[in-house]
This record gives sequence, C-alpha cells and structure tokens, in this order.
Amino acid sequence: MAEPRPPRAAAPHPVAIDDGDLRLSVWPTAQRDARAQRAGRYLPAATAHPGKMLPAIAATAITRYTQPGDLVADPMCGIGTTLIEAVHLGRDALGVEYEPRWAGLAAAGITHARRHGATGTGEVICGDARQLPGIAPAWARGRVALVVTSPPYGPSVHGHVRATAGGVRKFNNRYSRDPVNLAHHGLDALLDGITRILTGAAALLRPGGIVVITARPWRHRGELVDLPSAVIAAGRAAGLTPVERCVALLAGLDGDHLVARPSFFQLDNTRKARARGEPWHLIVHEDLLIFRKQRFPASSGKLKPDQADRTAPDDAQGQAA
Ligand SMILES: C[S@@+](CC[C@H](N)C(=O)[O-])C[C@H]1O[C@@H](n2cnc3c(N)ncnc32)[C@H](O)[C@@H]1O
Repeated sequence: MAEPRPPRAAAPHPVAIDDGDLRLSVWPTAQRDARAQRAGRYLPAATAHPGKMLPAIAATAITRYTQPGDLVADPMCGIGTTLIEAVHLGRDALGVEYEPRWAGLAAAGITHARRHGATGTGEVICGDARQLPGIAPAWARGRVALVVTSPPYGPSVHGHVRATAGGVRKFNNRYSRDPVNLAHHGLDALLDGITRILTGAAALLRPGGIVVITARPWRHRGELVDLPSAVIAAGRAAGLTPVERCVALLAGLDGDHLVARPSFFQLDNTRKARARGEPWHLIVHEDLLIFRKQRFPASSGKLKPDQADRTAPDDAQGQAA
C-alpha cells in the first residue's frame, strides 16, 4: 500500500508520565481547535453530530498503535472520525453506527477522504454494536489491530447554540429518541452495553490488538461520575487487559499554560456552580482507557497471560506521526 500522506490533524508525540500501575501519558490533541482540525477534511454536514471525537485523538491512537495496512475499527463510529483518520493514514477501516443518518455520513466521509488522497479503504455497517459478532463481516474476525471508540453519555449533550430574540436556543443536542441508542440508557445499562460491545470487539481483534476508549468526565446532578473506573471494569469483564490510562487534552497547550476552549454550556454551568459557591473547574480533557487483547492463547505454551500483560505496549506501537 502506498505511503499515506501525513495527516492534517496533527498527531503530536505524547508526553510520558509514570503512573505506577497503569502507564499514563498526556496527548496534546487540541493544539488546533476542532473546527480547524476538521476544515476541508470532513463534510460540512458532519458538524450536526452532537458528540464527535477530536480528529487528533483518533489520529494519535492510530499512529501510536498500528502500521499502514492494518485494520482499525470503531463500533460506535458516529460520523466516522476514527475511520476517516484511519484511511488518511493508510489504514483500512470498519465502522458500526446505529443511527442511519450518522452511518451515511461516515460512509460519505470516507469517500470524501479517498477523493482527497486517502489510501485506506473503509466500510460502515448500520446496526446495534451490542450484536457485533453477528453484524460484523466474517473476514474481519481476528484481523482488527485497533479499536478506537467513544460511547455516548446521556441523551442530551452540549450540541450547538444560536442566539435568538427569545434567548439562547439549543440544537443538534440529541442523538435520536430510539431506545436502542445507548445515549438513552442510565449508567448501569450504558456500562452493560459497553461491556457487550467490548466483548464483541475483542472477538474481532487480532491477538495483541489494542482498544482505545474515551471516557469524558461526566457530572450527574452536579457530582462527578467515576466513569473511567467503570469503563476499566467493563473492559476487564470483556476479557481485555488494561495497559495504559492516558489524558487527551481538549485545551491547547501553550508553554505551561492551557488554552481552554469551553462550549457555551460548559462555561455557563461552571459559572453558575461557582456563583452557588460550588468550586467547579472547566474540564479540558478526556480520559483514554487503553486495553490489549491477550497475545497468545493461554494454551499455546508461549507466554502466560499475566506475563504477556506485563510486556509494555511499546511493541504494539506504530510509527510516530
Ligand atoms: C460519542 S458518539 C461517537 C462519535 C464518533 N466518535 C465521531 O467522532 O463521530 C457515540 C455514537 O454511538 C452511537 N450509538 C449509540 N448506541 C449505539 C449502538 N447500540 N450501536 C451502535 N452505535 C450506537 C450513537 O448514535 C453515537 O453516534
């Protein structure tokens, strides 16, 4: 396969931090704001999706953990950020999305990327990712090098705002009203859905394959929910081994300063909480929970699973961007 062009959404080198048990690093993934990262690279219609991943998060994961020609999958692909970054980086891509509107935009986004020089190929399936083993094509089983995905949290997201004569109006702030969409589930059902999706994803992964799942800090009735710990437990229940816990910055890094780019609602909610005397801070990162599928079947006599798990994920890393 031809050498892929460098991505326009920069995938900077992560900054390593030693976190004891789980290796931790900070990915400076918002040196350019989301709009600049997407300009020309994504279809304008994709703007309507209420919970897109920053392209540089997907691009950094793909360059870190895969090589050109590898297969990258996203079981909740939305408008296809993971897939579009993958094909631009010369990887092949497979996505699943429940909502036909977003699945169609993901497929159109891949076509758009290929028209602009992307060399990877991509396929999008519209369906319920909790049924992954049944809906994924047979050829993908055991071939996926990397899964990059971000689950929906709650039916209502920040979306977009427009100032009108009657005040500020929200739009594009809901996925749909269909109960199969995990966005409509409470925390327990959401985690059950994530466990089922990760179990299906594990069956698609090749031995030693990697899963990167985002967990955005989430407040419920003002209290921070420890979603990362719950997602780590879901990954373990799916038979995967946690190997890293990273931080993807949603703020720019300018020397030793963070340049926050909060949404209107984040800023508004934080200001209101502070006015009530609650010491809220703007959240300017997402947690990235990184798992690996066991390299060798336990019966192969090569490495026992716990020995394999202690080997660093460096040997799974692809070329730095
Ligand atoms: C946070 S968004 C992912 C956005 C994506 N990373 C992007 O950048 O476009 C989560 C997506 O999961 C989809 N989803 C929710 N439940 C699903 C299910 N059961 N099967 C497949 N997709 C689902 C939602 O419709 C939504 O598009």
